[in-house]
Amino acid sequence: MTELQSCLGTKYLQQTKYDREQIVSMSRPHISPGPLYKTYPQATTFLLPEAERPPTDLWDALSSRRSRRRYSEKALSLEVLSALLWAASGNSGQVGGLVLRTAPSAGALYPIETYVQVSRVQGLDPGLYHLNVRDWCLECLQSGQYGPQLAKACLDQRFMAQAAINVCWSAVLRRNMAKYGHRGLRYIFMDVGHMSQNLLLAAEGFELSACPVGAYFDSEANELFALDGDEESLIYFASVGGRQPESSGR
Ligand SMILES: Cc1cc2nc3c(=O)[nH]c(=O)nc-3n(C[C@H](O)[C@H](O)[C@H](O)COP(=O)(O)O)c2cc1C
Repeated sequence: MTELQSCLGTKYLQQTKYDREQIVSMSRPHISPGPLYKTYPQATTFLLPEAERPPTDLWDALSSRRSRRRYSEKALSLEVLSALLWAASGNSGQVGGLVLRTAPSAGALYPIETYVQVSRVQGLDPGLYHLNVRDWCLECLQSGQYGPQLAKACLDQRFMAQAAINVCWSAVLRRNMAKYGHRGLRYIFMDVGHMSQNLLLAAEGFELSACPVGAYFDSEANELFALDGDEESLIYFASVGGRQPESSGR
């Protein structure tokens, strides 16, 4: 066995491969499904306004997008925040009773929840928020300046503390894995990749600075949002803020 073959990740890929001969007889774990939407009924809610459209053409945004880690002091407007979130996970259509979103999702199961650590958004107090996708509003989980704490949880990447917002994506494993079993984890990471790229392109369209973040201390980040790390765990982040003139480097 090579060192690569003995890696946990390689074993996972091997053991979750579809094989034409075995696909029908493959055993799947029995995992009961979870609800499609998560809400915090006790939280104070802030309706998100209609999303502003970015002035930049998609093709231009694709060619100019870079991970940018320097942010101005400028606050984001609520309309721009709404647009960024809409690009990643907005409701954009309906088939029968099923509401579809801007980013594709395996089996339309939408296992990714979105949280926002707000430092500077006009009309919103700094704090931790959850995006209620169904009602298109933000639910306030905690008020306060959590940028430095989140940056610390993300391997002390200090640029996150300078951002106007950090979008934090979690995986609700049950929502996907009840259908796809072990293999579902593959799809969950694909789902969040689609969502994050949509958000990064929207940020580029508004000529903001944005950077995806995948390096973090899992437990520290989960604790910040009171997530248990089993049923639901943070898996990806993106910092967004006003663009600084020389903002292409780390
Ligand atoms: C899955 C993933 C995780 C990443 N994590 C981090 C991170 O933790 N910190 C960071 O500064 N950049 C992070 N990046 C950004 C990459 O460093 C960046 O995309 C890469 O250097 C290519 O540059 P570009 O995005 O400007 O094209 C991440 C990118 C991806 C796709």
